[in-house]
Order: sequence, then C-alpha cells, then structure tokens
Amino acid sequence: MGTAKAKDFDLGEFTFPRGWFMIAEATELDNGPMAVRFFGKDFALYRGTSGRVVLLDAYCVHMGTHLTASPSASIVLNNEQIEGDSIRCPYHAWRYAPDGTVDDIPYFDGPCPKGAKLKSYPVVEQLGAILMWHDPEDGEPEYDAPNVDAWENPQWTNGTYDHLGEIPIHPQEIIDNMADAHHLGPTHGAPCEYFENEYDGHLYYQRQGGFHRMYNAYLTTSTWYTGPGMLISRQRFGEANGYEFIFHTPIEDGLVKAWHNNLAMSPNARPTDEDVTNAKLAQEGALAAFAQDFDIWTNKRPATTIMALPVERNFRRGRTWYKQFYNPRSKAAEYQEKVNGKHYLSNLPEPGELAEELEAAIAG
Ligand code: FES
Ligand SMILES: [Fe+2]
Repeated sequence: MGTAKAKDFDLGEFTFPRGWFMIAEATELDNGPMAVRFFGKDFALYRGTSGRVVLLDAYCVHMGTHLTASPSASIVLNNEQIEGDSIRCPYHAWRYAPDGTVDDIPYFDGPCPKGAKLKSYPVVEQLGAILMWHDPEDGEPEYDAPNVDAWENPQWTNGTYDHLGEIPIHPQEIIDNMADAHHLGPTHGAPCEYFENEYDGHLYYQRQGGFHRMYNAYLTTSTWYTGPGMLISRQRFGEANGYEFIFHTPIEDGLVKAWHNNLAMSPNARPTDEDVTNAKLAQEGALAAFAQDFDIWTNKRPATTIMALPVERNFRRGRTWYKQFYNPRSKAAEYQEKVNGKHYLSNLPEPGELAEELEAAIAG
C-alpha cells in the first residue's frame, strides 16, 4: 500500500506542519534524558534539576555526538550529565545551557567557539505530556498549547497515556475523522443523529451525538483540535462524564506517533478505588473505539482525493483548514477565511436543543 506524503495531499510549502505537538509522556523523563525523533529530525530531551524541560537539536556542534543517545557513557552512568538545567555531551563533556549555547568546555580555558550553539525549542509540560512548538519558519508560538482545568482537579481521574506507537499513515487522514459523520455508525456503532463542524482560526470543532448500539447508551461528544496534532474531546456517555485525548505527531512524512488518554469525573470529591477502576474501564472503552479507526487507517490505501458526496462537503473544508499549517504564517489567514464558521450536512440535523442539554450535562 505505502503511505502518502504531504505533497500527495497538496498541503502546501512545508513537509511538516506548524503547531504544538506531544513528544513524550512527562513521566518518561523520570528515567533520565531521552533521544526522540519527530519531523524527520533527531532531538535531545531532558529535565533539568529545577524541573525545567529542555529540547535541543540532538547533535553536538563539536563532533556530532547525539547528546542523549549514549546511556553507557561514564558521565551518564555517574549522574554527571545534567548540571542544573544544562547538559553535557557524553563524548567530551561540552556543556549546553538550556538555550542551546555552549558555555563550558572542561579542558579549554579560552572562550567557547563563536556559533557553538544548538537550536533550543519551545516546550511546555501540561496534561501529563511534554509538548513542543514546531515551526518550519522558526517563529515563536502563536497560541497557547491546549489544556483543561479538570486535569488538575482531584475529582477527575487521569490515566497514564496509552502509547499507540507508530502508524504508517499521513495525519491528514486522521484529521479527516473530524468531518466524517458517516463512519460513526459502521465503524463505531453509534450512528450520528446530529452533526456540526466549526472552524475558528487554528481551532477545528466537531459536535455530534447518537445512540450506541453495543453499550445501550447515548453518546454525545464535543471535540476540538488545537492546531494540527492535538485532539481533546468532552464526552457524555450514559452516566459517564469525561474527556478523551488523542495526540499525534509526525515522525517522518507519512508516519505518525500517537498517544491516547482519558480523564473521568468521579461522583465523589475524592475518587474511591472503584471510581479509579471505572475511569480505567472508561479509558479502555475509549481506546477500543479509537482502535476501530486505527484498524481502518493501518490497512487502507491513502485517500489523497475523496469521492465526496454532496452530504460530505465538510471533508474538503477540513482539508482546507489543515493546509494553513503547511504554509507560511503570512498565508494562514487565507485558508482560515475559506472555512471559518459553523457548517452542517444537509442530511443531518444541527445540534439544536438536544445538544445544548447535553453540553450542559457535560459541563455539569
Ligand atoms: S562531540 Fe560533543 S563534546 Fe565532543
Ligand atoms: Fe472515528
């Protein structure tokens, strides 16, 4: 089958999109610095002693050593690699400050060579994840990374991430799911009874609901992408009230890494053991639903064009929205203006009162 590339989808000038992306689960850094690869590049990721997380280009300016891929080096084994929020190269111990500048060479008293600097990337830690700002134009973040207050609220039980590994698919086809009202019955068993998409700059919303055949409960979801790689969904499913998180980040063109998580509201201010068990079950259930998409994505041929029916116009809008991230910032508004606003499908009702009730229930 092979996977399609950004060029095959005619996405724009860039191979990889601009935005906030998950690159690790925060707890992974407890085991020390990590070598990570995304956007066709290698990075060194570590936590300094202050707790600050730093992401640098991986390869030392001196002789090209990967800063965080040689755990057998003596300074790594002896816990001497991290000094404050700086990191030393495992080969000759040149020290990099968190901004990527070489500020100490242990065997040389003169000034550090001019231009001895690696690129340092904007990172934040929230939702139990390490998020980076990726920008082909090297600009500062244009908006905050997504967050939800409930994550820090003890009444909400959060899980550890399901690491879904590498999927050989272009993220365009994952994003297509946001516009895809008519797979919800056949793939997930909960045919859509109302549907809405809304586009607002770098945000893309989907609001929908329907009765789930297998679980015998009404499912309503209010889902949004903040930029091209981070999906958060508020959901009410029978009595269960929760959030779902699906984050995906390109590794290479046509290959993504994906993570999944859930946050479940407990009926008790302090979640009981039973509440925690139920939250885990909810996460497993949500993961099983996501696996239904996964199964399709892993085995399909790329849909670089879609034979879209008149009742599927949102596919094209969704793809237009996505293009803003593959083109210079100066052009993003052109794509946004083409799709901004709410859009409906002629064969499905708008959310209306039912959704308002359900949105209120979700908020409760
Ligand atoms: S290669 Fe990094 S200090 Fe020499
Ligand atoms: Fe789906």
